[in-house]
Parts: sequence; C-alpha cells; structure tokens
Amino acid sequence: MARLKEIDRRKTFAIISHPDAGKTTLTEKLLLYGGAIKTAGAVKSNKINRGATSDFMEIERQRGISVASSVMGFEYRNFKINILDTPGHQDFAEDTFRTLTAADSVIVVVDVAKGVEKQTEKLVKVCKMRKTPIMVFINKLDRTGKDAFDLLDEIEQKLDIKVRPLSWPIGMGPHLQGVYSIYRKELDLYSGSVTDRVEEKVNIQDIFNEDMTEYIGEDAQDTLREEVELVESVYPEFNRDTYLAGDISPVFFGSAINSFGVQELLDCFLDIAPKPQPKQAEERLVEPQEEKFSGFVFKIHANIDPRHRNRIAFVKVVSGKFQRNTNYKHIRLDKNMKFSSPTAFMAAKKDIIEVAYPGDIVGLHDSGNFKIGDTLTEGETLHYKGIPSFAPELFNYIENGDPMKSKQLAKGIDQLMDEGVAQLFIRKLNGRKIIGTVGALQFEVIQHRLKHEYNATGLYEPIQLYKACWITSTNKEQLKEFISLKSRSMALDKFGRNVFLADSAFTIQMAEQKFPDIVFHYTSEWED
Ligand code: G4P
Repeated sequence: MARLKEIDRRKTFAIISHPDAGKTTLTEKLLLYGGAIKTAGAVKSNKINRGATSDFMEIERQRGISVASSVMGFEYRNFKINILDTPGHQDFAEDTFRTLTAADSVIVVVDVAKGVEKQTEKLVKVCKMRKTPIMVFINKLDRTGKDAFDLLDEIEQKLDIKVRPLSWPIGMGPHLQGVYSIYRKELDLYSGSVTDRVEEKVNIQDIFNEDMTEYIGEDAQDTLREEVELVESVYPEFNRDTYLAGDISPVFFGSAINSFGVQELLDCFLDIAPKPQPKQAEERLVEPQEEKFSGFVFKIHANIDPRHRNRIAFVKVVSGKFQRNTNYKHIRLDKNMKFSSPTAFMAAKKDIIEVAYPGDIVGLHDSGNFKIGDTLTEGETLHYKGIPSFAPELFNYIENGDPMKSKQLAKGIDQLMDEGVAQLFIRKLNGRKIIGTVGALQFEVIQHRLKHEYNATGLYEPIQLYKACWITSTNKEQLKEFISLKSRSMALDKFGRNVFLADSAFTIQMAEQKFPDIVFHYTSEWED
C-alpha cells in the first residue's frame, strides 16, 4: 500500500552537539548530498552570538532563521529525510529537549579536539531516557585532535553509552590520509580541498589487501591494520537491532567542512536508522501504520513580524495520513479544526502540502489555539506523552509596568507560555505571577517580545529560589499536611498542579525526609 511505503521511506532525526562542534556545517553537507541546496552557506547557523551585537538583535536574528531551518526535508536514495534543527545555545536547551520528542533517532557531533562537551552530555541523557538510537560523528579530523581510542573511551564514559566504530581514521590533522570504512570495507581517501564530494573511494574488502600500501604508504598501512584489529577485538560486532534498541552507537570519523566522511555517514544512516516509530499516548501505544491520522505539537513559532500575529505550530505526524482541508479534532479544546494551508519544510523553503505521512512535520498556521503538547486526531481521544517541562531554576515575579496595558500583558504572557518560552506559576500566598526558566536569556526574550509584539511592559522582581518542582502523593493526608505547612512556598502551574518552590537543595532534602510519601518531580511528566 502506498501509505505504508511512504512510512518506510521516512527518516526523521535531529543533529545535536555542543555549539561549534559542526552541527550547522554537517546539516549543510547532508543537504548538499541530497541536492536540496546547491551551494554551501545556504544553511544559517542558529547560534546566539553573545557580544557581537545586542542580545535583542541576536534573538530576533535567531528567531528569523529558526523558522526557515526548523525542519529541513530532502529526498535522497528514494528516502524522505527530515532533519530537525535544535538550538545550540544552552539557554534554549528546553526547546531542544522538546524537539527530540519528534525525532526517531539522533546524530551526535563531537569535535575531535575538544571531545565530549557539556551540552552534548545533557542532550544525550535525554535521548537515553527515551532509548532514542544514537549515531556519533567525530568531526574536524583535518585538525589534530585526541587519539581515536581515547576519544571513544571518553564518549563511553561521559555519555554513558556503548560505542562501535564503523570507520577508522588514517592519520589526523596535517597527516590525515583518509578513513577506512569498517562498514563498507573501503578506503576513503582525503584530498584536503574544500569543495564538495572530494573523497576518492577504493574498494579493498580486506585490510590485509596488498594494494593498500600503494594508497597510504607502508607505515600508515601497518598502523591501520593494527588499530582495526584492535577495534574488532575490543568492540562487539555491530548489530542493527542493538543500535535500534538504543544500546549501541555506531561511530564515524570525518571532516564536515571538507565534506569528508559525510556521505559514508549518510549512507549508513539510511541503511540502519529507524523509520517512524510508534508513540505512547496516555491511552495506548499508537503505531504509524494505523489508518487514522494523529499527531502532536512539539514546537510553536511566533511570527517575527508583530503586525502578523500568526504563529506556526509544528505537528509531528504519528499515524495515518494528514490531509489538507480535512477536519481533525483538537483534543484539548474538544473542537474540530481544518487547515487550508499546511506547510511542509523542504530545505530552507516552505511549501503548502496536500498530504503528510508519519515522520513528517507539518506547519499549521495558528491564531492562538495550540499549546505545546496538543494532540490532533480523527476523533479518538489521545494525549501524547513525552513532552515534558523541566523544573525551572531561575525565577522572577512579573509585574505590569504600564497600567493601561494590563490586558495586553496578560495575553502576551499567556501566549509566550503556550509557545514554551518559559513556565508560569501563580503563588498561592499572594496570587503573584512567577516566571520560571531554565536559562537566563529567556527573561530577555520575554521582556523584549512583550514590548514588540504585545506593546506591553513586563517588569521583573527577582526571587531567590532554588527550584520549582511538582509534587504528588498517593497519601492524601500527607499531601494536605505538606501543602498547609508549606503554604508560603506553594504555587500552581498552568494546569492547576501543585508546585513546591524550594529555596535550596537542603529544603528539598529535608522535605523528602519528613514527608516520605510525597514525590518531588523534576520534569512535568511522570509515571503515577
Ligand atoms: P555548530 O553549528 O555546531 O555551532 O558549528 P558550525 O557548523 O557553525 O561550525 C563551527 C565552526 O567549526 C565553524 O567555523 C566551521 O567552519 C568549523 N568547522 C566545521 N566543521 C569543520 C571541520 O571539519 N574542520 C574544521 N577545521 N572546521 C570545521 P567558524 O570559524 O566558527 O565559522 P565560519 O566562519 O567558518 O563559518
């Protein structure tokens, strides 16, 4: 059936890395291979470059870029590939976490010289929680970096994953001769020119093939043979099922800027990466092959032009077939809606589409109906899980700075919270609004956007808090006692759930000891 074939040929994934490891460059090269773009430089970095210009300008620049580059779809080898963009800046990590809920697999980019950096550790942790299959690309091999074995050990230790190299470097930096593809049993020779598709591929089938000397010289050949033998004896044989289960991560080496090792990565990715996966709803597990459409909103993007308040809600299709101008049920609002101009994202272009299949991301124009996590279906009540909010660590009271504009302020705050920019809590003690974020930059974003898009002035008043965590308990008596005893530190989130505002780690520790039946949650989604 055509629909099932469409599902099978889709690969939806995210590239994650610490800023500067080469995510943008790799994305661009993948698009070049797919023929989706013609020249390098077409993909803009979504990095927030603090210091160069004012932060506001940077935020706007970044927002402008991130609509265009949120999803980059392209066709290659009869596959439909969707790359989900993730913001590099750590203050936007929550955005990245949410985007990861729409990815069926990830490629992690590691800088050969810098090794595993902090942001990568955090992001991989989230992937591991979900058992998302991970591939690793060690980048910048044209520079002198860490010894390959040491780097693999570092990756295993810091990211707490098991790796399996499927390519191996022959030299590095100025001595880089190429890589040996363990996956294809092929030598990929490096010529060092900064153009596209520079690799020369030599099929050798066996590292003991005598022709090898001719290509890389005797010394490099001996080293390669030794090292590959060691790889084969130290690491388990590669097995696709283990990778799909999230238990082993294949590793490739290359240099994105030189288009070196990229095609190898892409080809193997297409061979082994998962097709669209089933997704757990609160009610049941939903399979992509099911006939009826369902999908969920994982990202909302506001229009950068304040005169057009339209937003785009990004929906990942989970099952069935999405069709233009067809009625779908918005579960939270219990309301039927149809969409006349859904868009798909091909490279940096947006196009109106008629249909979309599981794995695809559809952009829906929205005038304020959607929140992150909303589900659309053909009628069945489903609530997709796995779009958590994280316990914020930075807090400010927000007050109205312009008495004539209180309605605008309230609306602006509401809409920005729906987009997932930050979280709003209402303190029970005094009814004041508290904004909680995971990064400091969000406060600037909120103030700036309230002013420019809603003509409202939000003033902050800092509060010293350590963390806001959700609390639940099966012991109703104990919960009641806790809430009454800690009434000064209690707040409600946007769904009216109880949130404990802790002023220190010690406070939480003490509370946990004294109230053993109460569970303190650090993400907004938990298993009861
Ligand atoms: P990011 O999205 O992960 O933040 O990284 P990005 O691709 O922007 O790359 C960061 C820097 O690393 C860029 O240099 C880029 O050119 C460089 N780079 C990427 N891949 C390679 C590689 O394989 N080898 C080497 N030597 N460098 C690489 P930049 O100077 O910060 O920016 P630009 O002026 O070159 O764009």
